[in-house]
Amino acid sequence: MASLRVGFLGCGLIGRSHAAGLSSVKQAEIVSVFDPDGKRSARFASDFCPSAGLDAIAASAEAVIEAVDVVYVCTWTSEHRRLVEMAAHAKKAVFCEKPLATSLDDAVAMQQAVASAGVTNQVGLVLRHSPAFRWLQQQISQANVGRLMSIVFRDDQYIPTQGLYDSVWRSDINKAGGGALLEHSIHDLDLLEWMMGPISEVTARMDSIHGIHGIDDQASVLLVAESGAHASLVSIWHDMLNRPSQRRVEAICQRGFFSLEGDWSGPVHYELADQSGQPQSQGTLGDEQLEAAAAEVDKITNSPDAGFIAAALEDRPAYPDFGTALQAHRLADAAYRSAQAGGLAVPTPPLVFDKS
Ligand SMILES: NC(=O)c1ccc[n+]([C@@H]2O[C@H](COP(=O)([O-])OP(=O)(O)OC[C@H]3O[C@@H](n4cnc5c(N)ncnc54)[C@H](O)[C@@H]3O)[C@@H](O)[C@H]2O)c1
Repeated sequence: MASLRVGFLGCGLIGRSHAAGLSSVKQAEIVSVFDPDGKRSARFASDFCPSAGLDAIAASAEAVIEAVDVVYVCTWTSEHRRLVEMAAHAKKAVFCEKPLATSLDDAVAMQQAVASAGVTNQVGLVLRHSPAFRWLQQQISQANVGRLMSIVFRDDQYIPTQGLYDSVWRSDINKAGGGALLEHSIHDLDLLEWMMGPISEVTARMDSIHGIHGIDDQASVLLVAESGAHASLVSIWHDMLNRPSQRRVEAICQRGFFSLEGDWSGPVHYELADQSGQPQSQGTLGDEQLEAAAAEVDKITNSPDAGFIAAALEDRPAYPDFGTALQAHRLADAAYRSAQAGGLAVPTPPLVFDKS
């Protein structure tokens, strides 16, 4: 079976996580890496490049792109656009971490670059692969539960300038582009539009309790979908180092209540009523049972990396792609504008690109 040569730009936390994910993908081999932090690239090469070892360390991003078939862009956010444009120009399939960029304009340019080049592209909105969210998205779209009315979405983690993440760049607005909402909850904005359908109104309030310039650590966002459904998103960066990053979601439909705790393996809980409002069924799913239930409703793999490599091998679109990420960037942009104006902002119209 054909195999792809994979290159990594950025050998930090998420680069290592994707490299670990690729270790079980037989059709991919990491052969070239670059990170200006030499200790990180050396550790990465010795851990994840069994054939090349330290010879996998390249002198520049350009050298990596030249040496491989597919490129992972796992640097801090402000470097994403430049590196993605280089990879697209070289006609290499590209996986880029979320958020795509520090601004909506840059995200638009990146989508345009991969669309014009016609290269397979995927974004690190990895919760699109989560059994828990796939199950929830499918359940609330069933006709028997009636209309989706409201979603309450809480996302909290300790501020990632410390602990496991330990990143200075996340406190630099020029490198990160924003705080909890853009850097972390771009996932949540994407999931909410996936579950609710097109969103037409966004109202937001954001604050910085830690007082880091431009870095929101407390965001409350109200979203209204064209369908009439509402969602409230609360995203927090606190200081409880022993509390893992976690989400809790409650979705209320006319005849169905769903809750999700644990954003990958659950548990998820459901309570359904019949047409006359009488109890019909209820239950809780988690782990293998939830994985099996999610696998029954779609063909999405649990592994974002296996999905990307399969798409790149077949030279076909990957999931979720830059176009998907761009829609979430529109919502983040609207939320920041709303917070700055202290009022309501309407997202820009959906962005559609052809490949010419
Ligand atoms: N999908 C997810 O759930 C998820 C989780 C964590 C981080 N991320 C995203 O991944 C990106 C990286 O985050 P991280 O936690 O791995 O950060 P990190 O600080 O652990 O690693 C970033 C690395 O990029 C390197 N780098 C900077 N500029 C570079 C360049 N031009 N070429 C090559 N390497 C360069 C840095 O030296 C650093 O080692 C961010 O955009 C972040 O938002 C996504």
